[in-house]
Amino acid sequence: PPPAVVVVGSINADQVVTVARHPLPGETLIGTSIAILPGGKGANQAVAAAQLGASVAMVGAIGRDAHARAATTILRSSGVDLSSVQELHGPTGLAVITVDDDGENTIVVIPGANARVDAGFVAGSAAVIASAAVLVLQGEIPAAGITAAAGLATGRVVLNLAPVIVIDPATLARADPLIVNEHEAALLLAQLTPGAPAPASDADAVARLRAWGVTSVVLTRGALGAIVSDALGTDSVASPVVEAVDSSGAGDAFVGALSARLAAGDSLRDAAGFAVRVGAYAVQSTGTQPSYPHVGDPLPRVHTDSAIHLN
Ligand code: RIB
Ligand code: NA
Repeated sequence: PPPAVVVVGSINADQVVTVARHPLPGETLIGTSIAILPGGKGANQAVAAAQLGASVAMVGAIGRDAHARAATTILRSSGVDLSSVQELHGPTGLAVITVDDDGENTIVVIPGANARVDAGFVAGSAAVIASAAVLVLQGEIPAAGITAAAGLATGRVVLNLAPVIVIDPATLARADPLIVNEHEAALLLAQLTPGAPAPASDADAVARLRAWGVTSVVLTRGALGAIVSDALGTDSVASPVVEAVDSSGAGDAFVGALSARLAAGDSLRDAAGFAVRVGAYAVQSTGTQPSYPHVGDPLPRVHTDSAIHLN
């Protein structure tokens, strides 16, 4: 059978450095550890979905360098189908990440091979993309690659616009859901409605994205959980309260988990309720993929009312 979830996106090696606090411009600090771990938003989402039981195929590119192997270790061990991942000349994508004592991170990404996942590249994997029940896209490959993939989709398209890039209206209209955090929502609204004031609240940002014409929106809010909005209404989904060690990649864990559950037939709300718990699980340890749960791992629980209807 074809994979239920197909992720077209980035594959990186993450160079993760821990520091007591983030350096200021011009400042030198002594760090406390360094690790090279597998990452990249696309690969992270693929691993999260696969480890939670979905059959997953990845479409993307790595380079021919020492980082290529590090970038794909967990993609391999989690059973993601990598037959549509190509090895190209040049460097593998690299993310330079600093994580402070509060679990807050900064990330600089050098795209490397990911920059070559364009329309022509994506066309080479047309059959697997078209076969997906759920196609998952993010903003770490060229916009032309994202547009081409969305155009091939016959199933549901999950678009995580992280980072925010210039996206064509037809692709945005195809998203169901669009998944963004509050910063990405504000940047996207500035792109869609130039000159309009910044959103007054997360709920306002969601309402404005829906009013623009996005079929469904999931706005992720870190420790506050998420807002889910579609034709059924707008609901707030609470997150479990956990001790944050490293929040990098928690959003990707959310996207992968939500996609896996949509592919399994869950409603968008049920999928989001599960995904916030997976995101909370992931912030509790270092790294992106190494911190993601497998089927059967106990997820943190929500103690407050998990769904508050907003309108
Ligand atoms: O979202 C986290 C990811 O962003 C990291 O794994 C890094 O590779 C960057 O793509
Ligand atoms: Na983590």
